[in-house]
Amino acid sequence: MENLTGKVVIVTGASSGIGEATALLLAGRGAKVVLGARRMDKLEATVARIVAGGGQAATLALDVTRREDLTRVVAFAVERFGRLDVLVSNAGIAPISRFDDLRVEDWEAMIDVNLKGVLYGIAAALPVFRRQGAGHFVNVVSTSGLKIVPLQGVYAGTKNAVRTISEALRQEAGDKLRVTVVSPGFVRTNLSDSMSHVPEVKAMIDAQSDKMAIPPDAIARAIAFAVEQPAEVDVGDIVVRPTAQS
Ligand SMILES: NC(=O)c1ccc[n+]([C@@H]2O[C@H](COP(=O)([O-])OP(=O)(O)OC[C@H]3O[C@@H](n4cnc5c(N)ncnc54)[C@H](OP(=O)(O)O)[C@@H]3O)[C@@H](O)[C@H]2O)c1
Repeated sequence: MENLTGKVVIVTGASSGIGEATALLLAGRGAKVVLGARRMDKLEATVARIVAGGGQAATLALDVTRREDLTRVVAFAVERFGRLDVLVSNAGIAPISRFDDLRVEDWEAMIDVNLKGVLYGIAAALPVFRRQGAGHFVNVVSTSGLKIVPLQGVYAGTKNAVRTISEALRQEAGDKLRVTVVSPGFVRTNLSDSMSHVPEVKAMIDAQSDKMAIPPDAIARAIAFAVEQPAEVDVGDIVVRPTAQS
């Protein structure tokens, strides 16, 4: 197992949940982490925690729906830490609903954040990875794309689009770049806050979550496992769900 020490990692959506846990875990194992999201107060608090523990971290406000923000964060990581080894595209939202509700703006928002946000990350990091002759994309998708259920059609669609894109990217990447998709099941995070506009949906998801959700650290450990492998070992697909999830 290769050490994470010195690896430069960007984590999007690092202001809470899985992204925050991933930034903390990777930094704790010696990575230099750049945390990105919109809520700077949260990001700064996590950076302070990492630095207080002797780790290295920096933060930049970013909105993954803006291509220039991904370009900026990649340039920032390279300028600050000299290179970029890993881009963890984790930012995501899940304002799920029934198709009959025609919440078209929510559909668009999920496409913008969950799908286009990942593509903008690829566009920003790929030229740097090519130049370096090394690099690793880690894309956080979902078990909602593996077991399709009502209400989650558009959300699962964005996640499965990323799954498909990741496999094609892996095939084009050649023998130097790695591509990993991680599919979490129910994880105890703030994700259901993005369902607040449909209270009965949020209540249903929160009830399921209360019953079985696993801590975000479980996903962070899976991401660390993929990143820690030797350069010639590409972990393609990891599913991490609660044992109790059907
Ligand atoms: N929790 C689960 O059960 C579960 C299951 C499967 C997959 N996932 C996936 O895991 C990922 C992380 O979610 P989570 O569960 O940890 O939920 P979370 O706690 O709500 O975290 C979501 C993160 O995404 C960021 N984000 C949202 N919109 C953004 C934007 N436009 N630009 C930049 N950052 C944005 C949020 O930060 P700001 O609001 O500060 O920007 C936040 O840091 C998502 O892709 C989600 O789909 C979660």
